[in-house]
Amino acid sequence: MGRAKKVILAYSGGVDTSVCIPYLKQEWGVEEVITLAADLGQGDELEPIREKALKSGASESLVIDVRDTFIKDYAFPAIQANALYENRYPLGTALARPLIAKILVEAAAKYGADAIAHGCTGKGNDQVRFDVSTTALNPNLKILAPAREWGMSREETIAYGEKFGIPTPVKKSSPYSIDKNLLGRSIEAGILEDPTVEPPEEVYEMTKAIIDTPNQPEYLDIGFTQGIPTSINGESKNPIELIETVNKIAGNHGIGRIDMIENRLVGIKSREIYESPAMIVLIDAHRDLESLTLTADITQYKRGVEQTYTQLVYNGLWYSPLKAALDAFIQKTQERVSGTVRMKLFKGNAAIVGRKSENSLYTPDLATYGAEDQFDHKAAEGFIYVWGLPTRIWAQKN
Ligand code: ARG
Repeated sequence: MGRAKKVILAYSGGVDTSVCIPYLKQEWGVEEVITLAADLGQGDELEPIREKALKSGASESLVIDVRDTFIKDYAFPAIQANALYENRYPLGTALARPLIAKILVEAAAKYGADAIAHGCTGKGNDQVRFDVSTTALNPNLKILAPAREWGMSREETIAYGEKFGIPTPVKKSSPYSIDKNLLGRSIEAGILEDPTVEPPEEVYEMTKAIIDTPNQPEYLDIGFTQGIPTSINGESKNPIELIETVNKIAGNHGIGRIDMIENRLVGIKSREIYESPAMIVLIDAHRDLESLTLTADITQYKRGVEQTYTQLVYNGLWYSPLKAALDAFIQKTQERVSGTVRMKLFKGNAAIVGRKSENSLYTPDLATYGAEDQFDHKAAEGFIYVWGLPTRIWAQKN
């Protein structure tokens, strides 16, 4: 008896996931492997990937376009939550995993599989996200992670694959480990493992080096409807178009590069490079619009909720009851977050230079220092007397 009879394997076309196919069958006695490649806008050619799975021994090779869902149901809520892990990483990889797990679980039901599988190693966050998301969606499914157990080096993995007719990667494979989708690219390994070394320009694809960016600033008007970005420079965009447009425009100005030391859930500190132009710009704009349209207490309270939300998403708890409860809170806060934020993009910087909203709580009569001032200055005196009372009493006694 093998570990499972029929398995749905998350498939990227890379060496590890390809080798998983014969490995599951030969070593773990799996009878049938069906692969599933998710199209998240990674721009890879999916037809060759689909064929490679079949050549590697999959009985069926599924390719599913989930780009629209990815943006609508995963990226947009993260923007509404202003989700930046450790204040910097916009979760491009972390957001994709629960969606991939969802379609794996759905495929398992459809094809009568008793397990899902993925090619993650035991050192990263992604294994946690896949495993916990799968368990949350169907606790009866088995989860197989061959690369977590096989203990083969890169060379051994390639050699193992060759024995079973998996073509050796033609081009000398990149020294980096790269994950990409519509939200950006996550790059690690190779020379980047030395945190003192500046990332070579070759690691970037979506963002220009500052030296090559335009010498003129460019304005970008971002329109939001209930916390969701819906238009660019006055033009309505569907979710995919919107993200692609902002990636292109902001990337052209060298915006969205992140170089950070990150704390993984499994306790390891790692050096990560990201480029995520659209998410960085959209979250910044969104947060600003909230400051205009939300009351002070909601704005400030929500910042704490955002921290917890971000932590949950990073740590693989997308489908957890706490995450669902925070979603409900965040959705409620977004009802009036509609309007436009103007940004000025120049030399790697996206500066917010203006904002407007029908729901604006900014009150010119109260804010002004001019003659139109409606604020009752005398009322401040009594307020300060009461506000400062505990401090005064404390000071008198001490
Ligand atoms: N550190 C990021 C995360 O945990 C990205 C991991 C991406 N994987 C990769 N192969 N580069 O979300």
